[in-house]
Amino acid sequence: MYYIFFTGTAGSGKTTLVKEFQQYLLDLEMDTAVINMDPAVERVPYTPDFDVRDYVDAIEVMERYGLGPNSSLVVSIDLLLTKATDIKREIGDIEANYVLVDTPGQVELFAYRDTGRLFSSLLVGESKSVNVFLLDSYLAREARSYVSLLLLSSSVRFKLGMPQINVLSKVDLLNQRELHQLLEWGEGEGLVDSLGVIDDYSYELVKTLIESLERPPIPLSANKRDGFDELYAEVQRIVASGEDFA
Ligand code: GTP
Repeated sequence: MYYIFFTGTAGSGKTTLVKEFQQYLLDLEMDTAVINMDPAVERVPYTPDFDVRDYVDAIEVMERYGLGPNSSLVVSIDLLLTKATDIKREIGDIEANYVLVDTPGQVELFAYRDTGRLFSSLLVGESKSVNVFLLDSYLAREARSYVSLLLLSSSVRFKLGMPQINVLSKVDLLNQRELHQLLEWGEGEGLVDSLGVIDDYSYELVKTLIESLERPPIPLSANKRDGFDELYAEVQRIVASGEDFA
């Protein structure tokens, strides 16, 4: 069994990608399961095999503790960890080649807090896993936003310690010129020039970031199911390479 997490900023397309990628894997006759890890989501377009909302309701947490939406989500994940034994038992019943995990839009859970990592390792157990990080290409069209998203991706990669695949989501929203430019930046070309005038600190930071990228982000459209073969090939490469949850 292999776990594929989908993380990214709010609205980057995680839920849509989970739904469409599950269908893609089913078409390849792979057994799949889906986990919804977002206690605050109202509706999901797939049928989850495990749903954290069965254990904690972020809206109820918000009302009970007088919290705002973001902190109620953080507390909800904390509460989930107190139910680890029951969750572990329920997850243990899942049988599938691939388990797709849809995560909350508050990516700070994975970039800055221990709970994202703790809950992920609770789900994964001894299985292998990979994190697909979605860079919203509509935001990434702007060079500074692209760099900021890459930095966020690096934070998540570092904090989670899981093999990671960066993807550019929603590329169907871009025109040819924008897509071409993003692909060039992904290869490390032209990004510094596109940033215009930047200070020395930013220059060194961007240079280091470009050098640290293992592979260019994979352009994807969940709506058009574009890029799924490339994503699946990359997942399989990581499975075969034996990279693991650190
Ligand atoms: P949160 O859980 O709120 O963080 O959102 P999310 O990351 O799960 O994003 P979601 O899948 O809900 O998509 C957000 C919006 O982007 C929705 O309006 C989707 O229809 C749209 N969207 C998702 N994927 C694509 C895509 O490939 N192309 C286009 N054009 N729109 C997309």
